[in-house]
Amino acid sequence: MMAALVAFLVAGCGPNRAGESDAQLGLNAEQSVGRAVFNERCASCHYPYSSSSLHGPGLDKLYRKKYLPSGLPANDRFVTQTILSGRGMMPAEGATLSDEQLRELIAYLHTL
Ligand code: HEC
Repeated sequence: MMAALVAFLVAGCGPNRAGESDAQLGLNAEQSVGRAVFNERCASCHYPYSSSSLHGPGLDKLYRKKYLPSGLPANDRFVTQTILSGRGMMPAEGATLSDEQLRELIAYLHTL
């Protein structure tokens, strides 16, 4: 309850998408699995539905913006590279993600 309230306040006004179910978000099966991967592997450092920083930048509308927070183009090549190799203070996650999980995760990130 408290966490949901904090997430809502952090997200500012507008719908609190973080609290919505996969169905409410309109996620398909692949994107839903990707959301679970995100919650397990990325959510400790990134808000998916806010541009506020946690340990890393908020990833709201990641692919709908022209540039990633670093200034690199927002496309699969650079997002995948960040996930596989890490960037700055972000640890590389590649060695512990299967190709399938990576694909599902990217599919979910496209829905943000
Ligand atoms: C331990 C914390 C941590 C975890 C876990 C983490 N990140 Fe990050 N992430 C960061 C930090 C810090 C940055 C900023 C790096 C920089 O530019 O110096 C970052 C940056 C990014 C960026 C922006 C890259 C750019 O070019 O601006 C993306 C996209 C990203 N992370 C996605 C993810 C995804 C997807 C996961 C889960 C697989 C994840 N991160 C897990 C801390 C983390």
